[in-house]
Amino acid sequence: MKSLFATQVFQGPLGLSKKIHDEIMNTALKLNGIDEEGVRWSKKNYPNGYTSYASLSRLHEQFSVFNELKKKLDHSVKNYSKGLGLKFDTGALEISTLWVNVMPKNCYHAFHIHPLSVVSGTYYVSVPGNVSPLRVQDPRAGLFMTSPARKIQHDLKPKKGDVILFESWLNHEVPPHQSDEVRVSVSFNYDWNNR
Ligand code: NI
Repeated sequence: MKSLFATQVFQGPLGLSKKIHDEIMNTALKLNGIDEEGVRWSKKNYPNGYTSYASLSRLHEQFSVFNELKKKLDHSVKNYSKGLGLKFDTGALEISTLWVNVMPKNCYHAFHIHPLSVVSGTYYVSVPGNVSPLRVQDPRAGLFMTSPARKIQHDLKPKKGDVILFESWLNHEVPPHQSDEVRVSVSFNYDWNNR
């Protein structure tokens, strides 16, 4: 038996210092106080929660603490893309966006992909017990014809301080968060800059 065209997802500790990690947590919880546009957008598009995705989406350029996170991510994403066998003969794989997600109880994020990016992922800042997973879907799901029942989703359980990396075409969602404690994460995209 050979495994062909397997979907590769990375999960592991990013190795960020406690000081930087805690500062990211504090900043993430304060951002909605200064980000009116983001709060408005979240009300419509991110039920019960706050994300800076549509307003403050280049946080690594705006806060040094997020730039510290980016430096670690650069390293991790480079290793991941090497492992995938991606070759960048011209141009480079570079961060394009980085934003925070604050999910109180019942907040969710329906299935989606990250078009135009190559690698996407999330760094987990606050992970209470009973945290909702990152759910990924078999990329072949739309191609199965008269297939018998099979598992087409997989739940990745976040751990505080972990990073999860996947290719941006991988369909993923966060089901409704079940804990009274808030779930905080930082998500990001890496693009192929070939200009
Ligand atoms: Ni996503």
